[in-house]
Amino acid sequence: MSKDTTTAAQSVGDALENLSTESRKFAPSAEFAANAVVTASAYAEAAADRPAFWGKQASELLTWSKPFTKTLDWTNPPFATWFEDGEINAAYNALDRHVEAGNGDRVAIYFEGEPGDTRSYTYAQLTEEVKKAANAFEALGLAKGDRVAVYLPMIPEAVITLLACARIGAIHSVVFGGFSAEALRSRIDDAQAKLVVTADGTFRRGKPSSLKPAVDEALSVPGHSVENVVVVKRNGEDVNWVQGRDNWWDDTVGTASTEHTAVGHAAEHPLFILYTSGTTGKPKGILHTTGGYLTQGAYTHKAVFDLKPETDVYWCTADVGWVTGHSYVTYAPLINGATQIIYEGTPDSPHQGRFWEIVEKYKVSILYTAPTAIRTFMKWGEDIPAKYDLSSIRVLGSVGEPINPEAWMWYRRVIGSNKAPIVDTWWQTETGAIMIAPLPGVTETKPGSAQSPMPGIAVDVVDELGVPVPDGHGGYLVIREPWPSMLRGIWGDNERYKDTYWSRFDGMYFAGDGAKKDEDGDVWLLGRVDDVMNVSGHRLSTTEIESALVSHPSVAEAAVVGAADETTGQAVVAFVILRDSAVEDADIVTTLRNHVGHEIGPIAKPKTILVVPELPKTRSGKIMRRLLKDIAEGREAGDSSTLADNTVMNQIAASLKA
Ligand code: PRX
Repeated sequence: MSKDTTTAAQSVGDALENLSTESRKFAPSAEFAANAVVTASAYAEAAADRPAFWGKQASELLTWSKPFTKTLDWTNPPFATWFEDGEINAAYNALDRHVEAGNGDRVAIYFEGEPGDTRSYTYAQLTEEVKKAANAFEALGLAKGDRVAVYLPMIPEAVITLLACARIGAIHSVVFGGFSAEALRSRIDDAQAKLVVTADGTFRRGKPSSLKPAVDEALSVPGHSVENVVVVKRNGEDVNWVQGRDNWWDDTVGTASTEHTAVGHAAEHPLFILYTSGTTGKPKGILHTTGGYLTQGAYTHKAVFDLKPETDVYWCTADVGWVTGHSYVTYAPLINGATQIIYEGTPDSPHQGRFWEIVEKYKVSILYTAPTAIRTFMKWGEDIPAKYDLSSIRVLGSVGEPINPEAWMWYRRVIGSNKAPIVDTWWQTETGAIMIAPLPGVTETKPGSAQSPMPGIAVDVVDELGVPVPDGHGGYLVIREPWPSMLRGIWGDNERYKDTYWSRFDGMYFAGDGAKKDEDGDVWLLGRVDDVMNVSGHRLSTTEIESALVSHPSVAEAAVVGAADETTGQAVVAFVILRDSAVEDADIVTTLRNHVGHEIGPIAKPKTILVVPELPKTRSGKIMRRLLKDIAEGREAGDSSTLADNTVMNQIAASLKA
């Protein structure tokens, strides 16, 4: 976390000021409440005995090959174990057991490709595909505990790959397709991945977009850990081929046997690593294990979305490259036997009604998306969704960043026909599953608030000293008790795990978010209070982008801030001081944007780069990002009395006017 607590406190303060007093409340309809899957009694039941509550969910929602006798072990905090002596296979729970129960013909996945191609998989078919992939990966020498880097677009093979890894106990590490070869390389190295699963490419806004070249570049340096690459043919582009290393998916998985027995793995066996940005330059490999992760994923999916698997059609629009695509596409919906949509492309391809066309076509009843998408739809105009029949929608979810009340109201009125409850879900890569959200059949929802911790979750808002704030006040969001899907650590770095999450407040998990409790005790999320930015719901680190900028020979120093942006929540704004040799380059801004794209990925490219003569620093040399943020957001810069040189802000202002 940021050691600059002044900045953190300031940003909580700013967010509190910006938060309008919101008094609207929307109760669920009597009919919705009467048919709700989870009722208010869950809160009291969980509060009475948290571990027992989770133990009950684990037994009821999952099928264990060896039942557990213990629930939580918290004798060595912050290292928890859940259901430790139990054994379970994630893929069996997501697939085979539904087929064995007679639901093999239920559709598991409706896939919509960006160019308009479609495929569907029943539970029986998906089970076969996963068994084939499991056999193929084993034939390539993959064994339990080995790591697999996955660099795939949003196609069914992504889900199949993840479940095949889980089936054989291999640990997947998905790298979002928007990350560069360089980012992929560092993640492959950190996890020492043995296998990479990728595709020739995908489609983006009607055009092919490639992936395989980034894998080739990532593996161009000798001494890497990768033995095999499996390549899905998706967009048909020509690819380079390394004999003996590269294998087409169709030749390996396509020809493999459909017989594969799933054996149970220990509940604490690692399921996956997912890298996420923190406050330092190096992304952290967040480690999740099996039993607890599946338990909380399945429970929250059922409770928060009021899932009725026989009749609902569920669509989470997240990419598998992010945690939402793990928990609420790959695992929980399939564990719960749901029918879901997977869509490869962007919302505007080939037209701005694409999402609503999909909702109408498949009669989507539960839609889970991000505020940035909602704000984009608002900008495009409500006449676009109005052209489609959205009457199938009965629950609307939001995730990834704070949702402003205006976007919330629009979502409810235009997409939810003024009746579908909105569930704003707060959680993180680290928490593995939803932590704070309304229960749609119980909670009177408030526009812009995630409201209540889930049953069995202990969340609080505390002040600088870790003391709970009274209702009506703001502070830092913490989690007081261990939860089943909590991260088990940072891959290969236990100390960093303790330092990052458990050292700021004694005995509490510090999430990095500011929050407020309102007069009813409901929680409002106010955004990050550390050096992490949230751009379109994607987590980016200011320091990581600064490191990328200063790695360019023209840059002497760089400071990056997340500036408020109407559509994307925040936008990356960089201030750079150039080396003397570089000042003459007229295209320097483009050069630097591309450089960041190469070092981290297109998603990290700064929206704006401002060349300045100096950066505002304290006497101890710390950059005062708060002042830069003022400039980036078009305000008069705030109090600069602690600057080592207080003429710096004038110098910057003058250079930007010039
Ligand atoms: O700042 C919070 C924000 O996203 C961060 C976690 O990002 P990531 O690990 O990428 O996971 C995103 C998907 C779960 C949090 O620290 N965040 C996530 N959901 C919300 C949110 N902020 C406000 N409201 C939310 N519902």
